Amino acid sequence: MLTTEQRERGEGYALYHSIGLYPGKQREVEAELATFAARWCAPDNGQWIYAQDVRDEFLARWRQVIGAPEGTLTATQNVTAAFYSFMGALPAERLAGRRVLVAGDCFPSMHFLLQAMARRRNFTLDTVPLRQGESYCRDEDFIDRWDDSVAVALITWVSSTSSHKVDLDVLVAHGRAQGSLIGVDITQGVGIVPYDVNAPAIDFVIASTLKWLMGVTGAGVLYVRPEIIKECTPEFCGWFSQPDPFNWDFDKFSYADDIRRFDHGTPSVAGLAASLPGLRWQAAQGVDRLRAHNLRLSRRIITAAHDHGWTLASPEDDASRGGSVMLRLPESVPAPEVVAALRDDGFFTDHRGQILRISPGAVTTEAAIEDLCETLAGLL
Ligand SMILES: Cc1ncc(COP(=O)(O)O)c(C=O)c1O
Repeated sequence: MLTTEQRERGEGYALYHSIGLYPGKQREVEAELATFAARWCAPDNGQWIYAQDVRDEFLARWRQVIGAPEGTLTATQNVTAAFYSFMGALPAERLAGRRVLVAGDCFPSMHFLLQAMARRRNFTLDTVPLRQGESYCRDEDFIDRWDDSVAVALITWVSSTSSHKVDLDVLVAHGRAQGSLIGVDITQGVGIVPYDVNAPAIDFVIASTLKWLMGVTGAGVLYVRPEIIKECTPEFCGWFSQPDPFNWDFDKFSYADDIRRFDHGTPSVAGLAASLPGLRWQAAQGVDRLRAHNLRLSRRIITAAHDHGWTLASPEDDASRGGSVMLRLPESVPAPEVVAALRDDGFFTDHRGQILRISPGAVTTEAAIEDLCETLAGLL
């Protein structure tokens, strides 16, 4: 059980797959939101200049995180919105009569969206199932289903229910040979595992700032490769999609040359502003340092799993795993009870079905993870 001081420092917080924290986050987000309020509510005309500055810094920091060139990355409400923006921008003939490939462990929201779009856009949604009793979709099974009838493949880089990390080089090399558009949902790994949109080159990337980049909601992103931007005509468009948003002539609408064509109405600012402190902090630490700490704690959990005979839902190999370690709890032990008992002792985890999700990050300590494992051993 954690001491009061440990609890106050959040040492038992292991929910980075949901929301990322860092020391001092509350204070810094409060300060940023106070600036937002002061600038937004000032009785002058500086609001839009401030909004543009916030957006510029947000986008520049994100471009830095994933190696995206200028003009290729924009902000969205969330990951699903980013995905819809991209899919809704594809020419009808790209999708009609063809397949969209996705794995059975993709984030459900993307699947719900694809189901709805498949009916309207006349494509077949092909979901690669997980093998009986397994916790994630195997790369080789995804590849087996990926032929030249696949118009778009959405790869989930790191799964939210196992932390399995795909081998992007292998998947993308295969997908290129099929001529498919390739997109990657990097939400669960970005910020804790190095990622680069150019290695391997990806056609579109969707993500949010909420998790290992330690932001808040309302700060999703969409990256599109410059060559692909040109063939996209987003149906979700508006005055901000234009080279000059102040063209109000109905007959003179045109798309901006760069990623701005994926923008639509007045951009949101508060979520981006409140996400800046997390992005700045993550950049100051560096992903390698954050990952080293995360791996040390993750390995502790994996060792405890071996010692106690717990079933790992995550891969053991560090290179095949994102920032979390997930355990498949025995059916005889209800997961909600385990999560509640851990919480009472100061450890914050959650579950999806019988999968217990543990994601140690910057505020989590090794001592707390050791205690968590001991408590878990008692519960199981
Ligand atoms: C892989 C992945 N994609 C997307 C999301 C979130 O999507 P959205 O921002 O649309 O809610 C999550 C959230 O946990 C996720 O794990």
